[in-house]
Amino acid sequence: MKNIKPRVPEGGAIEDGPVITMEQYSEIMKKQLGKEYLRFAENVIRRVNPVVGSNVLEIGPGPGWAGINLVKRRKDLRLTGLDASADMIRVATSNVNKEGIQGIDYLVGVAEKMVDLKDGQFDLVISRDSLHHWEEPEKVFKEIKRVLKPDGKLYIHDSRRDMNAFGGLMVAVFSRFVPHNMGYFWKTSIAASYTPEEIAGILKKAGIADWQVDSDLMDLTIYKN
Ligand SMILES: C[S@@+](CC[C@H](N)C(=O)[O-])C[C@H]1O[C@@H](n2cnc3c(N)ncnc32)[C@H](O)[C@@H]1O
Repeated sequence: MKNIKPRVPEGGAIEDGPVITMEQYSEIMKKQLGKEYLRFAENVIRRVNPVVGSNVLEIGPGPGWAGINLVKRRKDLRLTGLDASADMIRVATSNVNKEGIQGIDYLVGVAEKMVDLKDGQFDLVISRDSLHHWEEPEKVFKEIKRVLKPDGKLYIHDSRRDMNAFGGLMVAVFSRFVPHNMGYFWKTSIAASYTPEEIAGILKKAGIADWQVDSDLMDLTIYKN
């Protein structure tokens, strides 16, 4: 039996603060995680193969780089990003304009209650590294199910808290070399994340039986295709 540390929740929205604005956060993330955003977009295409012309909802887009990479690769997609942080939406909107991308719009709102979104509005829901911030994931899963078409697809990516000793060692080593204190935030994100078993339990409580939970050394994905 694995000795898994208790979860340490990490708030909801990420907003401008005294130390860093979301414009600065956006630039740091783009520089540090550029390849990860590309990998996320490629994984969405490979794992769930969005139908041509899909209406996509991205939950917690933050500065927008994950969805921007996806729409750059699949220009047929239309993407709506929903983020609890008005500061993040300001920056994501500016990033989309600077990149000259068509087909992406953003809304400020919490995923636990998607007040502006209709039943069955989306063909695909995606999310990258936002799940560990959701205050009530069971409510979010029920809302995703509501706004997703019955045959809709899903791809949610996040860290896993129960990584093995090798994964833990990699985080301990690499986090020392990440600038701007991002190594510290990487570790707090992992501490706030879930185990695949916890996610399976939350899905069961939400009455959702047709989503799959997958995991590798450091990450977990929830998907439906
Ligand atoms: C760690 S950031 C990840 C941003 C982006 N997906 C990326 O990979 O760079 C988490 C994002 O989720 C947003 N968020 C947190 N809780 C949320 C909620 N309940 N509903 C919608 N967005 C939320 C935060 O404001 C933040 O922008």
